[in-house]
Amino acid sequence: MSWYASLTVASLIASALAIPAGHVLHEKRTISNHLERRRVDGDAIIPVRIALKQSNLETGYDRLMEVSHPESARYGKHFSAEEVAEMFAPAQESIDTVKNWLMGFGFGEEDIMHYTNKNWLAIDMPASKAEELFATEYHEHDFADRSMRIGCDEYYLPAHVAPHVDLIKPGVVMSNRMKKRSLHKRQWGNWPPNHKGPHSWPHSQGWPSHTSTPISGPTSTSSGSGPTSTSIPAGLANCDTHITPPCLRYLYQIPAHPNNTSPENVMGLYESGDYFAQEDLDLFFAKFLPYIPQGTTPKVDSVDGGHAPVAVHNPLNGGESDTDLELAYSLIYPQTVTVYQVDDIPNATGHTNATGFLNDFLDAVDGSYCNYTAFGITGNSPSIDPQYPDPRKNGYKGQLMCGTYQLTRVVSISYGSPEAQFPQNYLQRQCSEIMKLGMQGHSILNAAGDYGVGAGPNQNGNPYGCLPGPGSNTTFPVYSPDWPSSCPYMTVVGGSQLNPGQNVNDRESAMQVNLTAFNIATGEGQPTLLIQYFASAGGFSNFFPIPSYQKADVENYINTQTLPPSYNANAQGTNIGEGGGLWNRLGRAYPDVAANGAYLDIFNNGTEERIFGTSLASPIFASVLTLLNQDRTEAGKGPVGFVNPVLYANPWVLNDIINGSNPNCNSSGFHATTGWDPVTGLGTPNYPKMRELFLSLP
Ligand SMILES: *[C@@H]1O[C@H](CO)[C@@H](O)[C@H](O)[C@H]1NC(C)=O
Ligand SMILES: *[C@@H]1O[C@H](CO)[C@@H](O)[C@H](O)[C@H]1NC(C)=O
Ligand SMILES: *[C@@H]1O[C@H](CO)[C@@H](O)[C@H](O)[C@H]1NC(C)=O
Ligand SMILES: *[C@@H]1O[C@H](CO)[C@@H](O)[C@H](O)[C@H]1NC(C)=O
Ligand SMILES: *[C@@H]1O[C@H](CO)[C@@H](O)[C@H](O)[C@H]1NC(C)=O
Ligand SMILES: *[C@@H]1O[C@H](CO)[C@@H](O)[C@H](O)[C@H]1NC(C)=O
Ligand SMILES: *[C@@H]1O[C@H](CO)[C@@H](O)[C@H](O)[C@H]1NC(C)=O
Ligand SMILES: *[C@@H]1O[C@H](CO)[C@@H](O)[C@H](O)[C@H]1NC(C)=O
Ligand SMILES: *[C@@H]1O[C@H](CO)[C@@H](O)[C@H](O)[C@H]1NC(C)=O
Repeated sequence: MSWYASLTVASLIASALAIPAGHVLHEKRTISNHLERRRVDGDAIIPVRIALKQSNLETGYDRLMEVSHPESARYGKHFSAEEVAEMFAPAQESIDTVKNWLMGFGFGEEDIMHYTNKNWLAIDMPASKAEELFATEYHEHDFADRSMRIGCDEYYLPAHVAPHVDLIKPGVVMSNRMKKRSLHKRQWGNWPPNHKGPHSWPHSQGWPSHTSTPISGPTSTSSGSGPTSTSIPAGLANCDTHITPPCLRYLYQIPAHPNNTSPENVMGLYESGDYFAQEDLDLFFAKFLPYIPQGTTPKVDSVDGGHAPVAVHNPLNGGESDTDLELAYSLIYPQTVTVYQVDDIPNATGHTNATGFLNDFLDAVDGSYCNYTAFGITGNSPSIDPQYPDPRKNGYKGQLMCGTYQLTRVVSISYGSPEAQFPQNYLQRQCSEIMKLGMQGHSILNAAGDYGVGAGPNQNGNPYGCLPGPGSNTTFPVYSPDWPSSCPYMTVVGGSQLNPGQNVNDRESAMQVNLTAFNIATGEGQPTLLIQYFASAGGFSNFFPIPSYQKADVENYINTQTLPPSYNANAQGTNIGEGGGLWNRLGRAYPDVAANGAYLDIFNNGTEERIFGTSLASPIFASVLTLLNQDRTEAGKGPVGFVNPVLYANPWVLNDIINGSNPNCNSSGFHATTGWDPVTGLGTPNYPKMRELFLSLP
């Protein structure tokens, strides 16, 4: 697939360095770092690390389809972690080529260390030797915190070696902090200097941008505007304005509580910056799920200093975690839940500049990701991801967790950020990891977002969260795709709802709530909101091309519907908005599926309230997959894994949503219609049909 192109090689430029014949520029710093610096002493021994190119990354998509596509002979035969590591390990040819080149410079085989995760060659050598090898000059750079790091502005490799090398460190990517000075502070800022992305670096706060927006409503469930009719089952008369566990079970035909549970079918929830309260769970159990004993609690895997639960009135109990857990218990109990509580940062400071997202979680559940080199990045990105140990008050003082926990078969993520906030290679690296987890049989779900075709308040530097057109267009007309929704290996869940006045036998529409009107009617929350609609997000990636499993459905939508103007994004996404287009007609499209996201009754902060958002939809759909995994376990089969290829090939197992739209960015956005659409995807779950389908697969 074309986005797996290597990024490092830039055009040759004039240079003061003596470049040996046959050498090519491998990496060059494009932004000056303005740091104090000195030439490194030629005799100083520096630790040179050579990241070898992973092989076969471009075949990853096909390997994932091999185990996930219903027509594949290998369907369901997921790979082990070792098999995946082996599959993408650098080719022996790469190892040999680089070793032979080094040995030609007088190094012995025994001087060259090959790291166990197979990606790295390590060799210590005098700086003068490294300068000769890479045709460069090394400098020590002083950082404001008095730490020192070694790096160079550009370096060269022999033409026959370059294709086998991802990057050299120290290089444009500087060395780790050297122990020359004593202080160890963390803040430093110019990495990676060679980023040339189309958008500015993240400056805004990156914490949950589409967590649900809790809106306090009436605490009584006794009144609703829905018609009471004899055809509506007892207790389900008010599902249009008060969604309860029986409403969800009826809508998706999920049996009232399953009896069996197997230890391998734990459902995972990603949480960060928001923490559940046991008291809220107990209140919810008492009112809605009386068969669940008080005190029933999830397992909490604390990642890099995240801890839960918190006290019920703690402001950190913001509603996202409570909601995710209350929904999961509603649908899967007695199957169990694991909460991955990620990062100390919000706890330690309440705010941070580390807008990075998901890397710490992925590190914690797959140790090989910690040092994974791809797309010119090794490991976490220090200017984006939180750094550990965290010296701040209450900061997590341990090392970054690597492979500390096992990843559950299903994990739901109700968090996101605009795709445009991250460098493209940061996202490509992360997405390739999500692909690898899919190959191992994990289902990773994400809430699509809540602000229609935009990213929401004050994202991307404008109030609606839309993107600027090319040039100096100041009106921000362009739609903003969400991350990680735009990764084609996620299963992305949009929102649906019963419109007020409808009943549980009616077909749902796209989630679209006028929050201003709701707040005025309930007397709670803000009566004037800039973005009045809370609407299921959906759209098209600017960085990731459309994957084959959804191509026919998406092209059918594009070719048969009257749509806003589009553009064809180039591989780097540098022509976003070209020609007045508002969305990329070549991009990965989302959501894939949908589930209810409106008027849900929950307990949070000790009170019953109603909330809205695709944050609800993702744990609902993840619960259905968890039930399906249990069904398959009982039939002696493995987990459902990455479900998109099966679902696009079998849309009959979902309830198609054909009404509604996702307005924002001064436009009405996209509209739902028959078949797949970028508002509600293929539709909401029909559990019995999904069960039939997934039990029929090997
Ligand atoms: C679980 O067991 C109860 C009592 O034996 C039974 O009524 C119920 O139907 C069972 N649930 C399922 C989903 O089979
Ligand atoms: C905040 O950090 C302290 C110290 O690490 C820890 O004891 C506490 O549980 C943390 N709280 C949350 C909500 O993460
Ligand atoms: C975030 O960055 C701004 C601007 O660089 C800086 O003033 C501020 O101190 C930083 N905050 C933290 C918590 O690092
Ligand atoms: C990652 O690499 C560092 C050296 O850079 C090494 O100390 C560490 O053990 C590696 N971690 C894993 C999980 O391989
Ligand atoms: C929407 O259009 C109005 C009027 O043309 C303009 O003032 C406003 O800035 C636009 N909003 C966005 C998000 O482009
Ligand atoms: C939302 O509701 C408010 C209050 O009733 C109303 O003024 C506004 O026009 C509505 N917005 C839309 C987009 O319909
Ligand atoms: C700026 O955005 C407006 C609104 O979509 C559009 O009409 C105009 O063509 C854009 N200008 C440029 C230079 O793309
Ligand atoms: C949480 O509940 C406490 C106690 O009732 C109240 O003082 C506080 O305002 C509530 N917090 C929110 C965010 O509603
Ligand atoms: C379609 O959705 C709109 C709002 O999004 C709603 O007003 C209308 O009643 C819905 N129609 C049906 C048939 O559900």
